[in-house]
Parts: sequence; C-alpha cells; structure tokens
Amino acid sequence: MQSLKGRDLLTLGELTPEELHAVLERAAAQKRMRATAKHPPQPTGRSAALIFMKPSMRTRVSFELACVDLGIHPVVLGPGDAFSRNETIHDTVKVLERYVDAIVIRTFAQADVEEVARHASVPVVNALTDDYHPCQVLADLLTIVEHKGALSGLRLAYVGDGNNMANTLMLGGALAGMDVVVASPEGFEPKQRFVDDAVGLAERYGTGAAVSVVRSPEAAVEGADVVVTDTWASMGQEAEHDARVAAFAGYTVTPELMARAKPDAIFMHCLPAHRGEEVVDEVIDSAQSVVFDEAENRLHAQRAWLSLVL
Ligand code: CP
Ligand code: NVA
Repeated sequence: MQSLKGRDLLTLGELTPEELHAVLERAAAQKRMRATAKHPPQPTGRSAALIFMKPSMRTRVSFELACVDLGIHPVVLGPGDAFSRNETIHDTVKVLERYVDAIVIRTFAQADVEEVARHASVPVVNALTDDYHPCQVLADLLTIVEHKGALSGLRLAYVGDGNNMANTLMLGGALAGMDVVVASPEGFEPKQRFVDDAVGLAERYGTGAAVSVVRSPEAAVEGADVVVTDTWASMGQEAEHDARVAAFAGYTVTPELMARAKPDAIFMHCLPAHRGEEVVDEVIDSAQSVVFDEAENRLHAQRAWLSLVL
C-alpha cells in the first residue's frame, strides 16, 4: 500500500479497501495504546486549522483532542473567522497554509471543500458537508468491527433521510464489502449519483458489496446486523423540520422494527439524536445501542487519520 502521507479525505470514496482497513487498524491500535499510555504527548511543532461553518459538538471536541494527543496545535475557526468579510476560498487557503499543516473543514457545499483541497498544499479533511461525513463513517466502521469482529459480509440497514450519512455509509459499506440497504420515503432517497458511486466502488474493487435503496423500513431491516438512522432534518434544513417529521411517519426506529433485524443486531446513530422522531428511547437506550462507542471512536478514527496523513 502507498503511504497516506499528504492525502485529503473528502468523501471516503477516494480510499481503496486496503487503505480503509489500514486506517481502521491504526485507529484500533492507537485506541489500545491510549488506554495504557503513561507519558503526556510531546509537541511536534505542527498545527491544524479546524474550520466550522456549521455547529458541532462531537467533531470539534474529538478533533481538538486528537490533535493534542498527537502533539499538533489545533486552531478552531468559526463563521466569524474563516471566509468572513467576503474573503475568497482561495485567499483564505493561501493564508492558512502558511500557518498550519492540515485543514479540517465542516461546511455546506461539498464543492467548497473540494475547492479548499484544490488550493491547499496541506492535507484537507472533510468534517461534514451536505453530501458526505467521512470522519463519522470511519468511526462507525471502527465501531462495527469492535462489535462484530469484521465488516465483510454484514448487512447494514439505514432507515431515514438519504443525506450525508446515507451517502457516506454507502461508500464505506461498498469498500468494506458490506451490503447496505437504505430505506427512505419518496422524495428523500439518496440521489442516484451517490448510489452509482457506491456500486461503482464495489465493482471496481470486487468487494462483493450490494447497495440498494428501498421504500420499506421493514424490508431494509430484515436480517440486518447493523441498523442505522440519523436526523430527519440536517443542519441547514431547520425550516423544513415540521414538514419532514410528517413525511417520515413510519420511519422511526422502534423496538418492533429492531425485532426484524438479527437478534444480535446493533443500533447506530451519529448523534445528535431526536428522541421520539427518528428513534425512540427504548432503542437508543437499549443494550443493542452502540451510539456512545461511535461518538468515542470519532476521536480514535480522526487521530489515526491525522497521524497517517501528517
Ligand atoms: N456526529 C457529529 O458529527 O456530531 P457533531 O455535529 O456534534 O460534530
Ligand atoms: N445529517 C446530519 C448529521 C449530523 C452529524 C446533519 O448533516 O446535520
């Protein structure tokens, strides 16, 4: 495998299956080491800009702490800092790369993250756009390995909005050889190009993964090893919340829906969760739920990625 040094993480689909597994193995190894580490991290003189044009709790905390663990100084920028006063993406990047060794960015348009990466001489990490959430899916795959022992051959059912999480889980599943079934109401399915990209990856690497979109949550969850959901109204869609709650009637992950999955199926959610909407307390608080393992694994997955690219 070629070194990942200097590489960008923009969608997850840019990784090969071998690279994906290397990141997950690094993350698992560092997680074990961190549990027994006795020495404080040594400063490396390196720094990273963490730009948040949308709110964040998990991503901000886990990236800051991943940087500190690696001896990298994190500099957090909000909407009042980066791209403020009509500064162009080009000029912002050309300034930042004089200061920092990596740029992590959460924003709306995927095209903006790709423009950052085109201009940047330092590695760029997508910390969520409207289209993708690769850091979350790295953490999710690490969590699935921890609970299921492996990824290949598992069936993952995603119930809900065809959003950034659905798009990225399809890519991750395709690379890892998992069957991914997405169940969404009419008008909220993942866009066809995201499905095609995932199917294309599975074919290119011969991973054996199948990716499909269905209407029925019950059909999707039947026999699943992993059941995943996410908010029905993502950041930027707040005004659509009430209409979306109506449109997603029947798509709540309930104990009755979970009962259709395998008895040892796990429940996942990237959080924040909207209890009583996409999932009920009886599921998210159940023994099947691994949502806080996922949240913890953001730190381990992102630290592994930063350590590999820097
Ligand atoms: N899951 C996730 O990305 O959480 P935050 O939006 O709080 O960062
Ligand atoms: N789909 C959600 C994920 C939040 C981590 C959003 O984009 O708001």
